[in-house]
Amino acid sequence: MSEKFKIKGGIPLKGEVSIGGAKNAVLKLMAAAILAKGETKIYNVPDLTDVGIMLSVIEGLGTKTFYDKVEKSVTIDATTISSITAKYELVSKMRASFIILGALVSRCKEAIVALPGGCAIGERRVDFHIKGLEALGAEIKIENGYVHAKAKRLVGADVYLDIPSVGATENLMLAAILAEGATRIQNAAQEPEIIDLANFLNTMGADVSGAGTSEIVINGVEQNNLHPIEYTTIPDRIEAGTYMSAIIATRGKAVIRNVFPGHLTFFNDKLLKMGANIKLIEPTALEVSCKNRLSSINFVTQPYPGFPTDLQSMAMTLLTTADGVGIITESLYENRFMQVPDLIRMGADIHQDRNHAIVKGVKKLTGAMLSASDLRAGASLVVAALMTDGNSTIENLHHVDRGYENFEEKIRLLGGKIERYVDESAKLTEGQRDDQREGFYDESHL
Ligand code: EPU
Repeated sequence: MSEKFKIKGGIPLKGEVSIGGAKNAVLKLMAAAILAKGETKIYNVPDLTDVGIMLSVIEGLGTKTFYDKVEKSVTIDATTISSITAKYELVSKMRASFIILGALVSRCKEAIVALPGGCAIGERRVDFHIKGLEALGAEIKIENGYVHAKAKRLVGADVYLDIPSVGATENLMLAAILAEGATRIQNAAQEPEIIDLANFLNTMGADVSGAGTSEIVINGVEQNNLHPIEYTTIPDRIEAGTYMSAIIATRGKAVIRNVFPGHLTFFNDKLLKMGANIKLIEPTALEVSCKNRLSSINFVTQPYPGFPTDLQSMAMTLLTTADGVGIITESLYENRFMQVPDLIRMGADIHQDRNHAIVKGVKKLTGAMLSASDLRAGASLVVAALMTDGNSTIENLHHVDRGYENFEEKIRLLGGKIERYVDESAKLTEGQRDDQREGFYDESHL
């Protein structure tokens, strides 16, 4: 039975919210943990469905894993790897699990990992991952939807990425850790999550330099140089950006704790240009507020340190009621405007032409029955629903559960009215469903 959010908008968010560990960092650290024999422990691990999927992938290799929900830690005992296969049933649920390819080839010199395929937001190819592994000496066969990589020995090489792909940079970093000699990744991704992975690997005994710049050098080490570690991952900059958007959207005032402001420089700059207030009150705490109607801006999503594609839908939501016209260009994905039809149903004025969206600010959005179509589109609909003076429901919550821990609890902590409920309407007759739709705009709904 499907779960939905009920949201009553129009309440300025106030108070404090604390940001959890970065999903897109922790998933890669979990894969990297299999490089060292023994028990590695990672702290600040959010309780997300994606983390659960990665744990299943790693357990499927014969490791022992344990997630401590109270301590928010994951323990991975990779003393033995008894399988080199990551099955389609798991990889297809979460593309990020493809990262296990580089780690397995490094540790076992062989891996059989399902190809993740495209996804709703774009084609999301893995050709750079594969070409990079070949450059290191792996022989790659693609059979029955699986990548079979095998190498007698991996030897360091120079690899140039056509696009600074986050996943390809990470897969190659992992593959190069135990290779002979130096690997240089040119046009590497520079995201904070890449730096976190390099720090994790270096703590483990690897030799990685240049992470956070466009050239990363990995000097291969011997297996016995690597040792299990304890490590705390960085805060989630996209979760932080989502709450910043929700506070600004509702003209609220609140403090965001456990955030690394330096990871959000470009996004903060755009919010300031729109008229929001952002104050650094402690090295890891921001006070965010907004009193007046925002002004429209234009922006283009780009690899880090540019405007993050993962916050494009949040910024679009803010533009829907800003003064003027804003133009958004999505340069990373072919289909990342999945929130547009729902925002239009709420009264937004948006014209989309391929990877451009023209957003003409309207005075108000109105509540509606909405559907999350992917993780970030779904989160932006929560922000949009909080902006209205009315009631909204959002279905398909499994998308938002992939990346937001305790989403509704954190919004409620800030004073927002949001509830998760199980939709029983599947059991209703058509007539009863019509009655329910009519009652939707009744205040008693929430
Ligand atoms: N690309 C290729 N070939 C490749 C690899 C990438 O053409 O071999 C293209 C992709 O199709 C895409 C672009 O390059 O158009 C960028 O993809 P990238 O590899 O950088 O992205 P990713 O590693 O698959 C990570 C995050 C995404 C985030 C992007 C960009 C994780 C688990 N995912 O994906 O996060 O949007 O980087 O910053 O780290 C999210 O959290 O909602 C999310 C989608």
